[in-house]
Amino acid sequence: MKSQLRKAQLRVDKQLDIFGVEKDIKEIYEEDKKTNKDHVATPRWVVEDIYNLIGIENFKNIWFPFNNYDSHFKLRADELNLKYKATHIFDDLGNDFFTTIPPKDCELLISNPPFSQQNEIIKRTFELVDQGLVKSFCLLLPLSTLETPTRAEMWEKYADKLSILIFKKRIQFLGCTTGFNKACCWICYNIDSLKEKLIWI
Ligand SMILES: C[S@@+](CC[C@H](N)C(=O)[O-])C[C@H]1O[C@@H](n2cnc3c(N)ncnc32)[C@H](O)[C@@H]1O
Repeated sequence: MKSQLRKAQLRVDKQLDIFGVEKDIKEIYEEDKKTNKDHVATPRWVVEDIYNLIGIENFKNIWFPFNNYDSHFKLRADELNLKYKATHIFDDLGNDFFTTIPPKDCELLISNPPFSQQNEIIKRTFELVDQGLVKSFCLLLPLSTLETPTRAEMWEKYADKLSILIFKKRIQFLGCTTGFNKACCWICYNIDSLKEKLIWI
């Protein structure tokens, strides 16, 4: 994974010819989709469901930090005319979540992040919250995100504003064999429309 990211970064660095670079990065992205076990695309019904549950139209300056060309988070946002910024490690700027600054006055970060990096992603997300750069978030994560002392400590610290939406059925992620499908949940922080702490969906 590291070498793939490095490869992408090198290509990003070559962006003198904009058209050539865009093609390069799209090629890498397509390749990555096939080989990277972290590239797990979210089906449309999951996106529509969470958008309805949180009332996405009420949020301004939304950030999709792991989304690119064909992501339903972005495609549905376009249909709803939402104001958003969609970034991805394989976009034309090589926007790494860990160093990218959210859009100004970001009211919502929402995405399906790479599960293998979840600890670092949760940590970074709360740093952005603490810095006032992100007001609320919804992260689609495996249900096992609730275990391990490291993650439990992070969630516990912010528990007052957390709601957990648990999927009753396993999600069939796009392009994945059924072997991948894990029990999942949305971990939502500071979302006004979610009145309960635990919700089964
Ligand atoms: C689980 S997939 C989700 C794809 C899309 N968001 C969706 O739900 O359909 C996570 C994506 O994040 C990308 N990614 C991995 N590390 C990243 C990073 N540090 N910054 C931004 N994107 C990253 C992966 O290449 C992968 O395509």
